[in-house]
Amino acid sequence: MREVDRISLGEGDSAAAIAAVRAHSAAFATENGRPPRAFVLTFGCQQNVADSEKLSGMAKEMGYEIAESAEAAELILVNTCAIREHAEKRALSIVGQYKHLKEKNRDLIIGVCGCMVVQEHRREQLRKSYPYVDFILGTSVLHRLPELLAKKLSQKRRIFGGDEEYAIAENVPILRDSPYRAWVSIMYGCNNFCSYCIVPYVRGRERSRAPEDVIAEVRDLVARGYKDITLLGQNVNSYGKGESHGVDFAELLARLDAIEGDFVLRFMTSHPKDATRRLVDVMAAGKHIAHHFHLPLQSGSDTILKRMNRHYDRAAYLSILDYMREKMPDIAVTSDIIVGFPGETDADFEDTLSMLSRVRFDMIYSFIYSPRKGTPAAAMEDQIPKEVSGKRFDRLLALQEQIALDANEPLMGTEQRVLCDGLSKDDGMLSGRNGQNKIVFWEDDGTPAGEWATIKIDRVAPFALYGKKNQVKVRKSNGNF
Ligand code: 5AD
Ligand code: SF4
Repeated sequence: MREVDRISLGEGDSAAAIAAVRAHSAAFATENGRPPRAFVLTFGCQQNVADSEKLSGMAKEMGYEIAESAEAAELILVNTCAIREHAEKRALSIVGQYKHLKEKNRDLIIGVCGCMVVQEHRREQLRKSYPYVDFILGTSVLHRLPELLAKKLSQKRRIFGGDEEYAIAENVPILRDSPYRAWVSIMYGCNNFCSYCIVPYVRGRERSRAPEDVIAEVRDLVARGYKDITLLGQNVNSYGKGESHGVDFAELLARLDAIEGDFVLRFMTSHPKDATRRLVDVMAAGKHIAHHFHLPLQSGSDTILKRMNRHYDRAAYLSILDYMREKMPDIAVTSDIIVGFPGETDADFEDTLSMLSRVRFDMIYSFIYSPRKGTPAAAMEDQIPKEVSGKRFDRLLALQEQIALDANEPLMGTEQRVLCDGLSKDDGMLSGRNGQNKIVFWEDDGTPAGEWATIKIDRVAPFALYGKKNQVKVRKSNGNF
């Protein structure tokens, strides 16, 4: 049985490093009348959002305050994504803009973290072309931030080691962005090597946290009033594989569901080849588990699925989907679709459209294929021209918009229990999410963020539901309640 190294932050080298940086922060505060500030900028997926909450947590532990902007910070951490070229370009362009901040403040420390810097060619690029970047920190060594920072504060040299550890670090302080919505990583890495995907190369092999650590974290969150908890992993259905504790994902979910309290449990992401009927049964029987399944299809063509190395076909996908709908008729199913994978013919693309029509997803995230250096698909012949992918992408979006609208139509007139997220930016309405993770808008009635509300739906759109808060009739109390 493979055992993963388990590290506990705050012991040994990391404890000494935290103490050293704290002393530096205290000296800074004496000199400047305020503590130093850290700014953390996040690109990419929820896993990165969760990782950034750890970066902020560690910064706080070391005496930093959290800054609202890069301009106000003494430490900038850019947590990068490598999934598509666009994400990398945006991160590099932002890092480029920090050059002038460094010119104004020589003591500013800039670290580039996350998936992008695990790639050798990006590391080299940052080392050569971005001389004001002080250090890099890959995904599997984020918990080494205190040691790196302590080193950087005591020497001028840049730190570009790039050593990955692929251990599991517990007790890393987490500074959560929200007081009611929380992310809980349950496993790290991916073993699937889908032929287009960079993740297995930058996040390493699958490794799972111990069930008791996950359960303790969720229990603590519920006790502190968290109401919406999402379990995270690149492939949560692989949870526990290769570990000696024998708890698989369905079992972990069942144990978490047994925790008392008023909260919703979600999880992301699942691979169709590993989504089991037992997992569906646990969801259907659950008290807290949201009736939402994010199940990336990627393509509706069996030929393309093979070339993607996905290990399922249309029939297998539909089999687990139909089982889900049979057990939970109200379940929302969402998906990821890639358009323009190398060799995708018109007929393959039509297969994707026909799967969309058959499955009727509530929502999809759609992407134009982006070649990733070092992955098998990037070396495949017959890459699809941009114009062709672009046209297919537009057709996919148009079809999905109609499907999503049809899927929302039956919700007209229903009452939806939603967790309020506060005022939405554009239109001054309150917004929140229901169990199916659909966005619901209603007129501002003073419901605070983090409170439940029951909304009667009177309008549906492809990407949102609209309604009014159900007025609870207040009876004059006689003092007994
Ligand atoms: N190009 C486009 N989309 C990609 N994804 C992963 N790798 C690529 C790529 N090279 C998409 C997949 C995955 C989601 C997180 O990102 O659909 O499920
Ligand atoms: Fe990438 Fe496939 Fe792993 Fe998802 S399952 S992270 S798409 S390799």
